[in-house]
Amino acid sequence: MNVVVLLGAPGAGKGTQAPLLATRLGIPIVATGDLFRAAVRDGTAMGQDARRYMDAGQLVPDEITVRLLLDRLGRPDAAAGVILDGFPRTGVQAAALDRELAGRDARVGAAILVDVPIDELVRRMSGRWVCRAAGHPHHETFSPPQVVGVCDLDGSELYQRADDRPATIRARMDQQLGALAEVIDHYRSSGVLRTVDGLQGIGGVAEAIGTTLDDAGIRPADALKEPSAG
Ligand code: AP5
Ligand code: MG
Repeated sequence: MNVVVLLGAPGAGKGTQAPLLATRLGIPIVATGDLFRAAVRDGTAMGQDARRYMDAGQLVPDEITVRLLLDRLGRPDAAAGVILDGFPRTGVQAAALDRELAGRDARVGAAILVDVPIDELVRRMSGRWVCRAAGHPHHETFSPPQVVGVCDLDGSELYQRADDRPATIRARMDQQLGALAEVIDHYRSSGVLRTVDGLQGIGGVAEAIGTTLDDAGIRPADALKEPSAG
């Protein structure tokens, strides 16, 4: 089971890199932010609860987030592995993930930190447009869609996220960077932390992540199933 964690501050490029990684490794993306936004859209009680925190730029409490993640990991398409985008975000979440994976005789294979300075994060979030269907990120300057207002990947409508307003962007930085440091320490201690320079263009970051995965011996799910030669 391949479990790759994408780590990074808000706006670092996790959601941009996740589909590229999913294609490369043949495993699904599990993005807690996208799951929360879907719950808000569907008007569920959990979505209404989560929305209060998201609109304030705060982390949704661990209890709600861990339950959401474990439910998702229990679905059949996650059996060969997952790319985790935006989870874990606290030490408690990281420990819950370790416990769940240990129960499946698995562990996080790599935690890839996409490292970007704060000024650049603000610039990236301020110009972001994401799609209704899957949350695929675009940027009005750095990766404009081929047709204005339309997702390059699935053709759905693009919109600006409610939490990409300047005041909420600042709140997310203030509230969340401390917890990110805790998660970075967790994976540094377990020896799976890998850092890539997120200040490069999208293609450069993807290449750096690919090299990192090769170094960590993480191969596509299909390749894991092939009998070894000889
Ligand atoms: P979530 O949706 O996960 O948001 P986030 O972590 O704040 O990260 P973003 O989605 O803002 O950034 P990203 O790293 O995906 O960057 P992107 O690829 O879009 O979470 C939202 C909220 O849900 C949280 O605030 C919290 O309330 C709650 N939540 C979620 N998970 C939780 C958890 N585990 N625990 C508790 N609460 C949780 O890129 C940004 C922009 O930059 C785009 O416009 C893109 O086109 C552009 N870009 C990307 N890469 C590059 C590049 N290399 N060069 C130039 N531009 C680039
Ligand atoms: Mg994202």
